[in-house]
Amino acid sequence: MGKLDGKVAFITGAARGQGRSHALRLAEEGADIIAVDICAQIESVQYPMSTSADLDQTVSEVEKLGRRIVASQSDVRDYPALQKAFDEGTAALGPASIVVANAGIGAGGKGMDPDQEWEDVVAVNMSGVWNTGRVAIPSLLKHDNGGSIILTSSTGGLIGVGIPTAGFLGYTAAKHGVIGLMRSWANYLAPHMIRVNSVAPTAVRTPMAADGDLAAIMERNPALANSLTNAMPVDLVEPLDVSNAVLWLASDESRYVTGTVVPVDAGMLNKR
Ligand SMILES: NC(=O)c1ccc[n+]([C@@H]2O[C@H](COP(=O)([O-])OP(=O)(O)OC[C@H]3O[C@@H](n4cnc5c(N)ncnc54)[C@H](O)[C@@H]3O)[C@@H](O)[C@H]2O)c1
Repeated sequence: MGKLDGKVAFITGAARGQGRSHALRLAEEGADIIAVDICAQIESVQYPMSTSADLDQTVSEVEKLGRRIVASQSDVRDYPALQKAFDEGTAALGPASIVVANAGIGAGGKGMDPDQEWEDVVAVNMSGVWNTGRVAIPSLLKHDNGGSIILTSSTGGLIGVGIPTAGFLGYTAAKHGVIGLMRSWANYLAPHMIRVNSVAPTAVRTPMAADGDLAAIMERNPALANSLTNAMPVDLVEPLDVSNAVLWLASDESRYVTGTVVPVDAGMLNKR
């Protein structure tokens, strides 16, 4: 018996990286999946973003686990498109009671117009999370059967990293904003037995971190190394480490946990 048998999970950014890992981990525990991803490049992002082939791979891996999945290419910045993706998913699979707002982009870095870097990272990483909640929450309330919403923040959502580019400032501001959203929704939804929490990963082994320029930034700014390195001797955690935290927050094992941030940070926050 799985920990999520009979549940449906709505996951954004599910084509690859942590989003795919969350889809597979929750499916292993019995959940059916509504997956969305932009599968396209956003110009100010310096590493290659996902493709439709990545999303196809998530679909096939979930199906291999014997679970159902409805996947669509949608942009979390596009509220009507995201609503359509959610509605089509729930029409096919049944009401969702788990929401994982995971889609996100890294902190610019292409040396583009700073306004564009700021706009893009705040639009995806904060407004996109708001859109994810607002498409799903009315349905959770209507079905009146509780639920668990998990918003992906970052260690950068709890501390100021100190890199003064528009992209990094926007990333840090957006990830702090996600925690504000989480706390507000947690209070609003607690009477309905809907829990809302965040995960705050340190750097994770995904294309975002692997192709990002964190190492180069630390080389140029040795003073930042302390705020960017973990206490435990690992540079990166694995997507599965974050997925296990997401699974715990999604499952009834955390049934009275709401309004909190779970760091998956190899001791990074405590070390500062
Ligand atoms: N990788 C890290 O070091 C790290 C650390 C802390 C937090 N995070 C956060 O974890 C989350 C997942 O990132 P990841 O590490 O798996 O990176 P990733 O780039 O591998 O995956 C992110 C996914 O989100 C999708 N996405 C981006 N913008 C989108 C949009 N507008 N609409 C729909 N989908 C969109 C991408 O296409 C991609 O498939 C992000 O919110 C990120 O900010 C990452």
